[in-house]
Amino acid sequence: MDIRVTINGEPVLWQVKPGERVLDILRREGFASVKHGCGEGDCGSCTILVDGETMRACLLLAGQMEGREITTVDALGTPDKPHPIQKAFVECGAVQCGFCTPGMILSAYALIKRIPDPTEEEVREALDGNLCRCTGYVKIVEAVLVAAKRMQA
Ligand code: FES
Ligand code: FES
Repeated sequence: MDIRVTINGEPVLWQVKPGERVLDILRREGFASVKHGCGEGDCGSCTILVDGETMRACLLLAGQMEGREITTVDALGTPDKPHPIQKAFVECGAVQCGFCTPGMILSAYALIKRIPDPTEEEVREALDGNLCRCTGYVKIVEAVLVAAKRMQA
């Protein structure tokens, strides 16, 4: 089945087998920032944006993506030109092994789009589905709050 999607602003054509998940295709196509964690919708490491909403790539069938717009963390910034959220994560020490980081950053990005000046509770709620085994979350929450403030300035 042919599926037309837009990934990070680029229109692409996927050749999709029945039952194939968006996570499998993105990883096959080289989007290594979309992590394969639990594979069952529990860890958030495969978080992507679909038409601006956070979704779990491991729970999405590729065949459902016709005409949708997918965003991975790669669209936000680069090591040379990081997004303010990425910058704040590094500065606040919110990245350790980094496995959860792309998904965390996309969840934070979607939150700040929706609520430009979130409270700590709103940040914690927005990141609730993104698990981190390393940081204890304090620095991640701090980074999102710092980024939100900077993005308002
Ligand atoms: S790999 Fe998708 S939620 Fe864990
Ligand atoms: S930094 Fe290691 S899982 Fe979050």
